[in-house]
Amino acid sequence: MSKLFIRTYGCQMNVYDSARMADALAGTHVVTSDPGEADLIIVNTCHIREKAAEKLYSELGRLKKIREARARAGKPTMIGVAGCVAQAEGAEIIARAPSVDLVFGPQTYHELPALLARAESGPVIAADFAAEEKFARLPSPAGRAAIARAPSAFLTIQEGCDKFCTFCVVPYTRGAEFSRPRAQILDEANELAQAGVREITVLGQNVNAWHGTDRAGRPIGLGELLRELAGIAGIERLRYTTSHPRDVDDSLIAAHRDLEKLMPYLHLPVQSGADPVLVRMNRRHTAAEYLATVGRIRAARPDIALSGDFIVGFPGETDADFAATLAIVDEVRYASAFSFKYSPRPGTPGAEMGDQVPEPLKAERLAELQARIEAHRSAFNAALEGRVVPVLFEKPGRRAGQLAGRSPWLQTVLAEGGLQMLGTIADVRIARAAPNSLFGDIVTQPAAAQ
Ligand code: 5AD
Ligand code: SF4
Repeated sequence: MSKLFIRTYGCQMNVYDSARMADALAGTHVVTSDPGEADLIIVNTCHIREKAAEKLYSELGRLKKIREARARAGKPTMIGVAGCVAQAEGAEIIARAPSVDLVFGPQTYHELPALLARAESGPVIAADFAAEEKFARLPSPAGRAAIARAPSAFLTIQEGCDKFCTFCVVPYTRGAEFSRPRAQILDEANELAQAGVREITVLGQNVNAWHGTDRAGRPIGLGELLRELAGIAGIERLRYTTSHPRDVDDSLIAAHRDLEKLMPYLHLPVQSGADPVLVRMNRRHTAAEYLATVGRIRAARPDIALSGDFIVGFPGETDADFAATLAIVDEVRYASAFSFKYSPRPGTPGAEMGDQVPEPLKAERLAELQARIEAHRSAFNAALEGRVVPVLFEKPGRRAGQLAGRSPWLQTVLAEGGLQMLGTIADVRIARAAPNSLFGDIVTQPAAAQ
C-alpha cells in the first residue's frame, strides 16, 4: 500500500472532504501523519480569508524539500493541491510551484483515483462544478474507517452558496447551492450509526438552505430532515452548521423545540450589528430581524446557546456601526463567536468598494470585539460550574486517565475515566471552567456499554 498524507486547512467541510478523499483512495493508500513517509501529499486549502495563497506557497516550498529528500532516497512523491484555492487559482499554482502534480477543485474529489493516474504522465488541473456527481460517486465512508475516526462525525448535506455576500468567495469557489438527496443522506447516516458514530454534525456552507423531498415527494427542509435523522437508532446527538439567518424557517425552529437529540447550540452568523453595513454586505436582513429570529429560537428551546461570526472593518464601517456590533454581542450574549478583520477577496464586490477601513483601525476594533465576546464566553462557561451535564466522550485526554468529550453546548469537557467510556454519554458534574475547557467529575456511568 502507498502512503497518503493530507494537510487540511479551513472549515469543517474541508475536514469532511479530506476524510472522503482518504476513503476514495482507501484501495491503494493508507493515511500517515508523517509527510516524510508519504508517497502522495494532498494540501486541502481554504480561500476564505487573507494570505491563503501565500500560506499555500510557503507550505509547497516545505513540501518540495521533503520531495527532494525522498527523491534522493529513490522514492517518488506526488503532490496534490485541493480545495478552494485550487478552484480559484487553477493553473497558476503549477506555474508558481512546478513541484505540484495535481490541482483539483472541491467538485472533483470522486475522480481522484483517475486524476492521480493521469498525473503520472504530467501535471493535471481539474476544476469543474458538478456537486451532484461528486456526491453520487464518492464512496460512502467505510465502517472501519468511521469507527477509527471518532464517535462524532461530519456529514455534508449541502454545498455551495447562492447568497453572494459581498465579502465572500464561497459562491465563486464552491459554486451554486446544491442539496444532496434525502435518501443518500439517510443511507450515509445509517452507515455511520452502524459504525459506532453517536453524534452527527450535518454540514453545508448554507446548511439550512438544504431542501429535498420526502418519501411521498413532498418538499421538505432541514427541520424535517433532522427529524428523520433523529429517528436513527444509535445516533444520540445531532448538530448542524453553518446557517444563514434568512433560512431559519418554522420547521427548523420546531425541530429545536421537539427534538431532544438536536443539541441546544446554534451557529448563526450575523457578521455586523449595523444595518447600513448589513446592506452593503448584501446579507438581506436587518439587525432587528436577526434578533427576532434569535428570540423565536430561544422561545422554542430556552437553553440554546448561540455562536456567531463577525467581520470588523468592512468598507465604510463607522464608529457608530462598530458600536452597534458590540451592542448586538451584548444583546445575544454569545456562548462563543469567531471574529475576523475584513480581508478584501479578489473578485468579490467588497474588494472594489470605496472607504476601505485602515488596518490599524480594524485591529483595534477586532481586539475590542474579541474582549467583549470573551467576557460573554467566560460568563457562559462559569455559569455551568456545579451543574451536571451530559458529555459525549470522544477521545483520551492529554493526561493519563483523562477523557475528553463535549457538552451539549460544544464545550470541551475533561474528566477522569476509563477508555471503555469512549463513545458513551455520561453525566458529569462541572467543577471548574478554565478558558478553553471545563473540568468535571463523572457522576453516572452510562446505562450500558454501547
Ligand atoms: N474577510 C473576513 N472574514 C470573512 N469571512 C468570510 N469572508 C471574509 C472576508 N473576506 C468570515 C465570515 C464567515 C466566516 C466563515 O468567515 O464571518 O461567516
Ligand atoms: Fe459566504 Fe454569505 Fe454564502 Fe455564507 S451566506 S457562504 S458568508 S456568501
